[in-house]
Amino acid sequence: MILPKTKLFIIGHPIGHSLSPLMQTAALKKLNLRYGYSSVEVLPEELPLFIRKIRQNPYYLGFNVTLPHKETIISLLDYVCPEANQIGAVNTVVLRNKQLLGFNTDGNGFIQGLKLNSKFEPFDKNIVLLGAGGASRAIAIKLLKANCQKLSIFNRHFNRAHELVSYLKSIFPNITLEAFALDALADSNQLENADLLVNTTSIGLKGTQFNDFPWAKLKASCIVSDIVYNPLHTPFLIEAEKRGLTIFTGDFMLVHQGALAFELWTGHKAPIKTMHQALYSKM
Ligand code: ATR
Repeated sequence: MILPKTKLFIIGHPIGHSLSPLMQTAALKKLNLRYGYSSVEVLPEELPLFIRKIRQNPYYLGFNVTLPHKETIISLLDYVCPEANQIGAVNTVVLRNKQLLGFNTDGNGFIQGLKLNSKFEPFDKNIVLLGAGGASRAIAIKLLKANCQKLSIFNRHFNRAHELVSYLKSIFPNITLEAFALDALADSNQLENADLLVNTTSIGLKGTQFNDFPWAKLKASCIVSDIVYNPLHTPFLIEAEKRGLTIFTGDFMLVHQGALAFELWTGHKAPIKTMHQALYSKM
């Protein structure tokens, strides 16, 4: 529901469990910005009409976009930034002069969190991604833009990994990119030299896990990350920690993608600590 003081919101379906209202409301309060951020349930078939109505209302500053609209919204916007176009998805829309401008802060949010919190610089690094969905694509593009040395993508359905790698190779022809089936992990030698391992699959949701993950192959300095933030410590990260590896939890990507969106809408530096604390109160 859009409340009277709402200038910002998130659209999706289902949207009830989104943590963005909590995080963004805390940020708005911290900066004494006296308007609200709500969540709005929008069904796929309602999206075109919803967008038309929003465009006519200069009161709104913008909104976040989540499943299932991140891709379909692109054709309804007036401008989509080059990076969101490459990713093929928009998670942040800015409303300016009745124009709807689309951005994607997911990949940037991941990298920014990683740099600030784990002091990890992707430049010249060897990186393994598990999963080949939308999140993997957003993160891969940022890692490649940061000139990582090599990126290997493993996916349950090999074809999807292959398609993603072919697409990425067309944009980044000078970086080594390889696709594998997830069940080839144990036999491949990609993990041995990995500096960063990122699980972008939904496997950690509801506490599920990988069977027989070849942990012994990872070097001691490899950072292990999961983009799932509920639970914060997924079985994958718990296993990594047990083996003494440094972990990077999914809340950082959530906070930093939100912070970047906040900065696009308001022009103010986002109070990242406040946003993170608001999240922790619900985790
Ligand atoms: P998102 O936009 O969050 O990345 P997505 O596009 O639906 O979501 O992608 C989900 C990812 O999780 C995919 O890589 C998917 O693998 P497939 O492409 O083979 O379906 C992966 N995934 C989901 N459930 C999985 C499971 N049980 N085991 C392994 N991978 C799984």
